[in-house]
Amino acid sequence: ANKNINAKLVLLGDVGAGKSSLVLRFVKGQFVEFQESTIGAAFFSQTVAANEATVKFEIWDTAGQERYHSLAPMYYRGAAAAIIVYDITNQASFDRAKKWVQELQAQGNPNMVMALAGNKADMLDGRADAQTYAQENGLFFLETSAKTAANVNEIFYEIGKHFIFF
Ligand code: GTP
Ligand code: MG
Repeated sequence: ANKNINAKLVLLGDVGAGKSSLVLRFVKGQFVEFQESTIGAAFFSQTVAANEATVKFEIWDTAGQERYHSLAPMYYRGAAAAIIVYDITNQASFDRAKKWVQELQAQGNPNMVMALAGNKADMLDGRADAQTYAQENGLFFLETSAKTAANVNEIFYEIGKHFIFF
């Protein structure tokens, strides 16, 4: 029998980390060099399938600018999954990602599936400290590139599998 699951997913992370670019790559297969900074939040949906089951992601792409921080709980409250995105070339964006993880651990849904995306992987070789951090905090971790598409479908697919198999 087919199983069709809807899952609300929120993207959080510093301004310019590449949240919108990851969503645009995942949903439309596109990348733009001059992606505009998100105002408030944007909504998308996309379905992944595994073993005759489907997960329809209802995706909230939030704005990283600090003045929108107070809106974030509206988007992560009730979310089944989160992707916390940072830019691997920018240490401050990794620090910001850790703050988001703390906020979700404190205020988010305790069963939330969380993934950490080290984005812009096309620009640098990987950082080992993020892998350790992710393991310690129970996060699924992948380095991604919205530009080359590396690991973009994979990160959504790995999250989707949690809802299908667990
Ligand atoms: P806010 O909406 O302001 O919070 O930013 P955001 O996290 O949505 O970042 P956005 O997707 O707008 O990307 C910011 C810039 O980084 C854009 O110019 C993108 O083209 C670029 N960018 C995003 N992902 C990648 C990537 O994987 N590789 C490279 N080289 N550039 C990227
Ligand atoms: Mg954006």
